[in-house]
Amino acid sequence: MRLFPILGVSSLLCNAARAIEVNFDDTQSVKDAASTIAFGLMSYYTGNNTGDVPGNLPDPYFWWKAGAMFGTMVDYWFLTGDPSHNEATMQALLHQRGENDDFMPKNQTLSLGNDDQGFWAMAAMSAAENNFPDPPDDMPQWLALVQAAFNQWVTRWDDRSCGGGLRWQIFFINGGFDYKNSISNGCFFNLAARLARFTGNQTYADWAQRVWDWEVATGLITDDFRVYDGVTVRDDNAAECPEMDTNQWSYNAGIFLHGAAVMYNVTGDDVWLARTRGLLDEAERRFFTEGVMSEQRCEPFGFCNLDQRSFKGYLARWMAGTAQVVPQTFDRIMALLRPNAEGAAAACSGDPVEGFRGMPGTACGLQWHPRGFFDGLVGVGEQMNALSAVMYTLIQPGRTAPVTAETGGSSRGDPGAGMEPHSWDMPAITTADQVAAGFLTSGIALSLVAGCIFMVK
Ligand SMILES: *[C@@H]1O[C@H](CO)[C@@H](O)[C@H](O)[C@H]1NC(C)=O
Ligand SMILES: *[C@@H]1O[C@H](CO)[C@@H](O)[C@H](O)[C@H]1NC(C)=O
Ligand SMILES: *[C@@H]1O[C@H](CO)[C@@H](O)[C@H](O)[C@H]1NC(C)=O
Ligand SMILES: *[C@@H]1O[C@H](CO)[C@@H](O)[C@H](O)[C@H]1NC(C)=O
Repeated sequence: MRLFPILGVSSLLCNAARAIEVNFDDTQSVKDAASTIAFGLMSYYTGNNTGDVPGNLPDPYFWWKAGAMFGTMVDYWFLTGDPSHNEATMQALLHQRGENDDFMPKNQTLSLGNDDQGFWAMAAMSAAENNFPDPPDDMPQWLALVQAAFNQWVTRWDDRSCGGGLRWQIFFINGGFDYKNSISNGCFFNLAARLARFTGNQTYADWAQRVWDWEVATGLITDDFRVYDGVTVRDDNAAECPEMDTNQWSYNAGIFLHGAAVMYNVTGDDVWLARTRGLLDEAERRFFTEGVMSEQRCEPFGFCNLDQRSFKGYLARWMAGTAQVVPQTFDRIMALLRPNAEGAAAACSGDPVEGFRGMPGTACGLQWHPRGFFDGLVGVGEQMNALSAVMYTLIQPGRTAPVTAETGGSSRGDPGAGMEPHSWDMPAITTADQVAAGFLTSGIALSLVAGCIFMVK
């Protein structure tokens, strides 16, 4: 995922024609509102049009965001029972699984980070946990797709610098290869915990523990449960990585919160309960203002980029996920999610002249407020945030909990998935001195670099 300044802010706005009316005491009313917002979200999707590529969002949205969107649509179906978008979702997830069934499609190699792969893998994990319809038998199954990403992250774990951790980027030619960030490691942590819960296999739990310990050891997770963005790997691959980006983003808080909650569910160990509560306390302090979520680092100043404009929806997703696996937190989390949902729905009153193809008067803005207003920012992020804020209030204690292989989960796994080399693989180079050798011996790397230069020109 890349950081770019805000693109395509719709500038011409009419007065709000109408808002989405929703009664949060009435399940059907919440489902109807979610349906309207989901329709607005899927109106951005062009991948199922003739001639377009299934799974991709149009420019300027990056590939990972489509993975996040289809993960949201898996949960949308599960929580509302509305299958309208299942066909598009199934097609997208299967098309973007990549040539090797691991969510690393060749088309995306020039910007493919571990976190990008992770957001698609999380969509597949939600599909397994929610018993989303399984792919046809001759296709890879949801659980196996997640295991493929997991197995690759194990091989990419890099002890040679910063005492461990995953790098942001997978390929050394991509900018950001020298950064180890919380979201990439958070994807690993979150999915390792969920694989442990789904399969009962201890190896996954051990890796979740290891990723957590590394985040704490580097200082990326602090004693008071702040989650910082990432550390820079020094040129000499030093074990110490003191150069840290201490920005706090809501999705980093959320992904570790949910993973810690799942680890508590798996282990029953009070240490994980304390971590869950600590992360929840900090998330509430940091990302809630006047009862609604705010991406505090950029939203109040109006400079959230396209990626950042989708983060708080994931916090809603992972708070709900936490409530489902740690019943002790359910009431507290619902007490946060409900006013938040009211504020989010009240911001879905926009009628921009351009940039929105959903029902007139139902475009969702970025900023939420208890009394509601539309700030004029529209897009996949805004729409997906509001959908998440509204629909995750539909969770119910016990009843909507994610399944496991033992409790009715039908998805079949493949513990060895993801280990086939890609036909287009570059050498797995993680130290500077090997880079030169790699360039000399790998024609594929050379042609990829050439392709890169060509694209830049
Ligand atoms: C594409 O998907 C959307 C959302 O699921 C659906 O409304 C639309 O009919 C689909 N279009 C095509 C051409 O299949
Ligand atoms: C890769 O790009 C080609 C050309 O646009 C397209 O036909 C193909 O479906 C894409 N594959 C994936 C997995 O996106
Ligand atoms: C794990 O989650 C399930 C589903 O919500 C719940 O029934 C169970 O009590 C949880 N276990 C623990 C240790 O919290
Ligand atoms: C548990 O997971 C590990 C790591 O993927 C795998 O090597 C092992 O075969 C799995 N064990 C079982 C019983 O599936």
